[in-house]
Amino acid sequence: MIIAVDGPAASGKGTIARALARHYNLPHLDTGLLYRAVAATLLRAGLEPASEADAVASCGFEDELLGDPWLRTDEVGRLASVVSAHPPVRAALLERQRNFARQPGGAVLDGRDIGTVIAPDAEVKLFVKATPTIRAQRRHLELRKQGADTSLDKVLADIRTRDERDSQRSEAPMRQAEDAAVLDTSFLSIDAAVQRAIALVEQRTRAGG
Ligand code: CDP
Ligand code: CDP
Repeated sequence: MIIAVDGPAASGKGTIARALARHYNLPHLDTGLLYRAVAATLLRAGLEPASEADAVASCGFEDELLGDPWLRTDEVGRLASVVSAHPPVRAALLERQRNFARQPGGAVLDGRDIGTVIAPDAEVKLFVKATPTIRAQRRHLELRKQGADTSLDKVLADIRTRDERDSQRSEAPMRQAEDAAVLDTSFLSIDAAVQRAIALVEQRTRAGG
């Protein structure tokens, strides 16, 4: 069983994907981390994110980098959204994601284009969303916990910029697959959102099987 979980920043897709992987005992891939690794490699080398050639040159990162907490910062997330818009960067990361999705027994992947491009044949597709304001509040809280000194307005502006860039790019833009079930987590606790996600998976697998 392949479970594809897509959605914008801080919608709760990572939390839901991890919980589904635990519940169904499936391996999980946070695909955003791959684009974050490209951005981090580029930053470390002092290259130019807007340059497609520089971004492509940063795709050969070591797997150990994926565990670096720096990848989870806003600085890297912002640049990840810039490098991910370059089609050859997406092409360089495609095979790895498809292989992960197609491993025997199945997998859970979360990102922006899992249900549309990486695994269009996934048995279950969820599109997780929440209002920009609520997503900004969640991200702001996380950043404050990390000790970052940033305002809610700034976080909201960043979220809106990233939403726009991710949904307007020509290659694999973020969008809800036609056959995806929508899960709006705006007014759900984490537990409630996870229970709802499990119910949607059960519904889909019953309908399909
Ligand atoms: O956790 P958050 O949603 O903030 O970010 P992420 O999932 O780590 O993704 C960082 C950036 O990578 C996104 O803004 C997208 O531009 C890009 N991304 C993508 O293009 N396709 C994916 N499947 C996953 C992430
Ligand atoms: O992966 P994505 O960027 O979509 O979001 P996440 O990392 O799963 O969640 C972003 C933040 O929102 C985390 O701090 C979660 O604990 C929190 N969250 C929440 O408050 N309520 C939910 N229903 C889901 C997530």
